[in-house]
Amino acid sequence: MNIGGLQKLTLLDFPGKIACTLFTVGCNLRCPFCHNAALVLPDRICQTMTDTELLTLAGEARKRAYAPYSHFAVGAALLCKDGSVYTGCNIENASFTPTVCAERTAFFKAVYDGKRAFTAIAVVGGKEGDPDGTAFPCGVCRQVMAEFCKEDFRVITPEGAYTFGEILPHAFGGI
Ligand code: THU
Repeated sequence: MNIGGLQKLTLLDFPGKIACTLFTVGCNLRCPFCHNAALVLPDRICQTMTDTELLTLAGEARKRAYAPYSHFAVGAALLCKDGSVYTGCNIENASFTPTVCAERTAFFKAVYDGKRAFTAIAVVGGKEGDPDGTAFPCGVCRQVMAEFCKEDFRVITPEGAYTFGEILPHAFGGI
């Protein structure tokens, strides 16, 4: 991905720590893939993730989906307030119920890493082999979002972006 003359890497371009060189420590960004602190390179400037970039990362994550039962592959890219990005895919199970969606995979990875504040999530899905399409977060994933996100959290799809308040009004917030 080339933005303003600066190259930003996708998962495909990430054989090693070279991705880290794209972000400056001063911007408090971390490599979106390995989440390591970035190297300081004075000739690089800080850029925040665009919706298009997040959708691209979600598309890369979708390639890792384990969906032998539905053959519906989903990828998600979750942007944290600190600039880091956590990706996820759906992981199915022969017993069906333990299946986890791409969105929850991304959230749980991030929360495990200590992240609690989130800006946006991009989600793409479709039948295996089909190009990235729109897959709206299921109800369970929306409830997980409700645990950590406010109404202005953004849900980005190839068709457009929505606020979390739009897709889950009157969310249950606890007793
Ligand atoms: N799935 C997701 O990963 N995210 C969504 O937003 C909708 C559904 C997964 C679950 C299951 O593995 C497959 O898509 C078909 O429902």
